[in-house]
Amino acid sequence: MALQAGGEGRDQWGSKFGFVMAAAGSAVGLGNIWRFPYITGQNGGGAFVLVYVLCVVLIGVPMLFTEMGLGRYGKSSTFGAFKNTGANKFWLIAPVMALLLSFFVLTYYSVIGGWAVGYIFTSVFNINMSFAEFSQTPSLVIPLFAVFMFLTIIIVMGGISGGIEKASKVLMPMLFVLLILVVLRSVTLKGAMAGLEFYLIPDFSKITANTFLTALSQAFFSMSIGWGIMITYGSYLPKSANIISSGLWVGLMDAGVALLAGFMIFPAVFAFGMEPTQGPTLTFQVLPAVFEQIPFGNLVGGLFFLLLSVAALTSSISILEVPASYFMDEKKWNRKKSAWVVGILAFIVGVPSALAAIDGNFFNTLSMPWFEGVTVSGFLDILDTIFGTFFIVVVAFMTSIYVGWVLDINKVVENIAEGAEGFLKPVFGIVPAKVYVFFLRYIIPVVILLVLLNMVGVLGFFSGT
Ligand code: ALA
Repeated sequence: MALQAGGEGRDQWGSKFGFVMAAAGSAVGLGNIWRFPYITGQNGGGAFVLVYVLCVVLIGVPMLFTEMGLGRYGKSSTFGAFKNTGANKFWLIAPVMALLLSFFVLTYYSVIGGWAVGYIFTSVFNINMSFAEFSQTPSLVIPLFAVFMFLTIIIVMGGISGGIEKASKVLMPMLFVLLILVVLRSVTLKGAMAGLEFYLIPDFSKITANTFLTALSQAFFSMSIGWGIMITYGSYLPKSANIISSGLWVGLMDAGVALLAGFMIFPAVFAFGMEPTQGPTLTFQVLPAVFEQIPFGNLVGGLFFLLLSVAALTSSISILEVPASYFMDEKKWNRKKSAWVVGILAFIVGVPSALAAIDGNFFNTLSMPWFEGVTVSGFLDILDTIFGTFFIVVVAFMTSIYVGWVLDINKVVENIAEGAEGFLKPVFGIVPAKVYVFFLRYIIPVVILLVLLNMVGVLGFFSGT
């Protein structure tokens, strides 16, 4: 993503395509290939997938337009975008939460990124090590985590160089092709059918109050909504860029990769008699077993984990960019200092997450009570529940109300429509912008509020099932 000095002295994307690639690069990452399958597995399969797809289409895509439009209008990264558009202290809570969650998620996201990097080598060199052993060896996991964080810092420090943009233009389509190849192998395994049924046939008895929050937050996590990422990226948008087509592309690619990841994982999980509910280790347990069933599987596996690492990097740089751009815009730090300070702090705070996979270790046994009688255990899962799930949804909720009701919504609509004139013109008598405003004001905040209230037990839908 080549950032260039804009007319008003602010960096701008080099090209429209560069922006779409950067935004899609941010969206497509571990959230799709690591997080989506295990969350789907824990939440009962098909019914969860259905709720997730509805969340993407009805809430996620309009929220992408909203965040990109707010960033372009506010001409600043997350905090400044709210401040410049007149947010008072109360509304500034949203960007502060976004900064915090981006920082804390980065701490464990990079641990998982390190696992992906490590698996390039275990695959290529056929190192016979179970995931349990790998993830419980700090002398492997911590240096890999450091390498991943270092790469993230270097790329962000370089002003997000043109190199990664060029690389992702080639590597992202390659990841897509390889995903399809692995899906084909997975669905043709003996016993794959049970996995397809689990994944595709909704069993509504599996839905609980927590399912809705989880599906909604998974959609936001994966689409980079609620983090401040799309606001920050939107702030670098030139006038000519089309937010509508970019948002639609990002939504489509992101959901496409997540759904493919499910087709890759679940048939294999059932074919190999594994547990779909095992949690964050799922993708890393299942994939090596699938690669064993493919000719030259070690090379295919190595390439797959390389591409996954790249996808994770194009996301982690966007996550680091949120707190780093706060220090650049608000505290006038230079890019280098911002990237290093935030990155090193995130590394230090991330070490407990790296150690949390070790059975019986202090960070592994930590637990936190959550709603609906659920207990979350392990440092990484606790952070993911607080920041990667709850905070993301609250920030998106506040953003929808802030833009829909507090700001002059017409200003954001104007910014969304710049470069996308069709947004204001009727199609079969309906003006798309009006539909968008209706969703933003009446559907999105109401749905999110109901989901939150239901989760804390106020409404009692699906509770106790
Ligand atoms: N949206 C990014 C992902 O899904 C953070 O990994």
